[in-house]
Amino acid sequence: MLPPDQTYQLLRNLTSPVVAVTSERDGKENGMISDAAIRASIVPTVPRLSVYVHKFNFSHDLIFDTGRFVLHVLHNKQFDLIHRLGFVSGRDRDKLADVPHRRGVLGAPVLDDCYAHFECKVVNVMDTGSSTLFLGDVVEVGFGAGAAPRGEVMTAAYFRAHMPTEWKKEYEAGLVTAQRFAEERSRKIRAVVWRGLEP
Ligand SMILES: Cc1cc2nc3c(=O)[nH]c(=O)nc-3n(C[C@H](O)[C@H](O)[C@H](O)COP(=O)(O)O)c2cc1C
Repeated sequence: MLPPDQTYQLLRNLTSPVVAVTSERDGKENGMISDAAIRASIVPTVPRLSVYVHKFNFSHDLIFDTGRFVLHVLHNKQFDLIHRLGFVSGRDRDKLADVPHRRGVLGAPVLDDCYAHFECKVVNVMDTGSSTLFLGDVVEVGFGAGAAPRGEVMTAAYFRAHMPTEWKKEYEAGLVTAQRFAEERSRKIRAVVWRGLEP
């Protein structure tokens, strides 16, 4: 086995493009950033995706409690959005206040600016101890305003290599805190059965 740091760096090859995940519960809207989202179906008529969300994130509870979220693939100029949604929690602030958006068909926020968005209904979950993998059925999809001229999607490697230098300390500190939280809880996996939101 390689030393843990080297193993972690190798696993970084498996991160997804950087996505913004929005949610809404009882009128409170929120958004976060993830680089752990992936297509989860090869069937064109059953579009599905999945995303890992840590339990310490406010978004986790909003998604778990409402069974819906919107996943936005970002274009590679959206550094400010990543800083706004991915570096602080929405528990005590409205992170979407100055981010142009509208409500989607499921009621969760759809951001105007993105590469593309997918509105999702949760159809299953997997507990990892420290996070939940949400499996979502895509019920609506669209391109962001001006997606085509914006070019490439934002990858995790591109974000890490090109984020403003003054953000790097904050990013690394957030990562270390998240890793500590996850380390304590990763071995306590629960058997969670997703029964949907119907009683
Ligand atoms: C590039 C990047 C990737 C991230 N990836 C994830 C991820 O895969 N899963 C996760 O739960 N949080 C991830 N985060 C951290 C959350 O976006 C961050 O904790 C956010 O503040 C949560 O907001 P909330 O508490 O309002 O939900 C990432 C952050 C950044 C900047």
